[in-house]
Amino acid sequence: MIREELESRKLPELLALESGEAVKTTQDWERRRGEIQELLRREYTGYPTRLGVRTAGRVLFCDENGYGGKAVVKTIQLEIKSDFSFGTFSFRLALPKGAANPPLFLYLAFTPEIADGLGEEILDAGYGIASVYYQDMAPDYYDEHKNGLGRFCARNPYDSWGKLAIWAWGASRMLDYLLEEESVDAGRVAVMGHSRLGKTALAAGCFDERFSLTVSNDSGGGGAALFRKKGGEQIENLYGKGSRLWFCGNFFSYLNRTEELPFDQHFLLALAAPRHLYVCSASRDTWADPRAEFLACAAASPAYELYGLPGLVTDDAWPECGQPLHEGYIGYHLREGAHYLGRYDWQQVISYRNRWGI
Ligand code: GCU
Repeated sequence: MIREELESRKLPELLALESGEAVKTTQDWERRRGEIQELLRREYTGYPTRLGVRTAGRVLFCDENGYGGKAVVKTIQLEIKSDFSFGTFSFRLALPKGAANPPLFLYLAFTPEIADGLGEEILDAGYGIASVYYQDMAPDYYDEHKNGLGRFCARNPYDSWGKLAIWAWGASRMLDYLLEEESVDAGRVAVMGHSRLGKTALAAGCFDERFSLTVSNDSGGGGAALFRKKGGEQIENLYGKGSRLWFCGNFFSYLNRTEELPFDQHFLLALAAPRHLYVCSASRDTWADPRAEFLACAAASPAYELYGLPGLVTDDAWPECGQPLHEGYIGYHLREGAHYLGRYDWQQVISYRNRWGI
């Protein structure tokens, strides 16, 4: 059933090099990955700045007894410099006490504060949180991509970075600092976000191989969902005033010709291979289209299989609410309910991380 559905969507071939040669080995895949990165940068996210930068962090404030004494909570100002430019933003880092090198969630957030209840749940599970309010990196409105981190790269109307790539680049700069300066487990840093920030988490984690896990929640169109035969949001909707800013200009040359996109979102997901990936969907989120997200996971799995690893492990059936699929390197769950990042989503991702030790 899944295979037939994928065949009917006529997706571009994941395991073929641009020369037409089949991808049969992990070495072939490494080449293919490079091609896909180029393709997606040129046609979808846009290229990030090519300037070399230095990242430094300054602890502005440290609460040694956060969360009733359970965690150290720092406010860190990140300073990023190139030879021509300078950018800065701050983020929160909460680390559970008593864990020498805790694994971490780099959480792309819609608010500047980590909610107390959410923070406590995550810290009690033994994970640290580096939480950044996305608009502190670059604003989410039309500014010709000139403010915040946008100033590192002059925007052209074709292939320079859209906002997703700018925010993702900021997440990578946070990682520069966290891996150098803070006592976190370098092999266990996940990047996670919801909705447009789920798209951003994919743009960060699928490209930056230092993330051990990439998690998107309800990321939908321009995120984990396949575009071909997708329900709900289409490329034409993403061309709306707000979301148009998130992508590079070339992406919208596919307006009203989705079938001609030279990629689909399984290309993006497969970039994570052989690292872990986790996609969360919600049953009533028809705008995002849970089925298109699920199918993209299935379509990305062959990249894992080249490494002898299971991608998405599922029966040949649509996923059921409340029956998470945790047995493969691609984890997936369908939550009952609407577009939202909820308790159930966090709990499932934590349990997946515990299970795999990532
Ligand atoms: C809109 C948009 C989605 C996006 C969401 C969000 O619904 O159409 O693509 O994911 O906003 O980020 O809130």
